[in-house]
Amino acid sequence: MNIYKPLANRYDAIKYKRCGNSGILLPQVSLGLWHNFGDVDLFENSQEIIFRAFDMGITHFDLANNYGPPPGSAEENFCKILKKHLAPYRDELIISSKAGYYMWPGPYGEWGSKKYLIASLDQSLQRMGLDYVDIFYSHRPDPVTPLEETMGALAQIVRQGKALYVGLSNYDAETTRRATEILNSMNTPCLIHQPRYSMLDRWVEDSLLDVLEEKGIGCICFSPLAQGLLTDKYLKNIPGNSRAAKPHGFLQKTTITPELRKKVFKLNTVAVRRGQSLAQMALAWILKDDRVTSVLIGASSVGQLENSLKCLNNTTFASEELDDIEKILAV
Ligand SMILES: NC(=O)c1ccc[n+]([C@@H]2O[C@H](COP(=O)([O-])OP(=O)(O)OC[C@H]3O[C@@H](n4cnc5c(N)ncnc54)[C@H](OP(=O)(O)O)[C@@H]3O)[C@@H](O)[C@H]2O)c1
Repeated sequence: MNIYKPLANRYDAIKYKRCGNSGILLPQVSLGLWHNFGDVDLFENSQEIIFRAFDMGITHFDLANNYGPPPGSAEENFCKILKKHLAPYRDELIISSKAGYYMWPGPYGEWGSKKYLIASLDQSLQRMGLDYVDIFYSHRPDPVTPLEETMGALAQIVRQGKALYVGLSNYDAETTRRATEILNSMNTPCLIHQPRYSMLDRWVEDSLLDVLEEKGIGCICFSPLAQGLLTDKYLKNIPGNSRAAKPHGFLQKTTITPELRKKVFKLNTVAVRRGQSLAQMALAWILKDDRVTSVLIGASSVGQLENSLKCLNNTTFASEELDDIEKILAV
């Protein structure tokens, strides 16, 4: 064991916000391990990113059973870092995991049955070397399994002490409302919702954010940089080490069309006027909404993490800036 010595002033660097009506404060920027923490990635780099995040006051690390690749390897790599270097700080961390997507063959390896959720969390705990996770999510709604069964599994997991809190991810507004009511009837409040939200994908604005506010549920927005599209990295070309250039993952080179580049170029001009990087402006733009608790970012380097975190230096927008952004996004 070689215990990491974090910066003593780490909690001065970042802002924390209450997650819905709960007792939990989350950092306004949290770190996700979907990409850059699998066995295909350089372990030393992953470790440096975690250490730097912790040093900068990031207390929340988000995982899922299928993060890698290969699936499960992000949880295993996180365990190696945690066990060897961060074990004494477990009580300073909010660690989440999820189940919902494909993990193993046969009828019990994905979606939302009690059988799958309970087994998957047991596997995640084993991979991470933990007794419990702080938050466990149903990763996606299951169109076939009764909502009562999926929510019943979440409530059971909390009763068993395997998770302290539960959350929903990728649930639409109406299903979120119903799921929350079922959870409440089982005395297991829903802590948080994890939807995709960025300048390029604004579905949550229709009604989900209102439901979350009404029900006192926190909101942590994933892919707030649209997987890197809302940064300056693709303005000229597709860098060889970028997510779009990698063989795994969902960001395709074909997504980066000349029209999108034009839009991003214009957004970048607004960001420069504000004295921010485009990444910082894209994150600040989400955080300006009081209903949002945290932005859940990814990073492939310590430099990116440091750059993104500086979004907190300015999360307010002049109305002309907001108008300019709306006009650019509308095209
Ligand atoms: N619940 C769900 O269904 C779900 C789905 C997806 C993600 N998530 C969660 O959300 C987390 C974040 O997702 P994401 O990785 O797609 O988030 P993101 O923040 O939108 O994208 C991260 C990528 O953007 C680039 N980047 C980050 N900061 C940058 C900066 N300052 N300057 C230039 N480029 C920068 C990097 O790309 P390069 O790698 O190309 O350098 C990085 O890998 C995941 O790790 C996961 O925890 C949840």
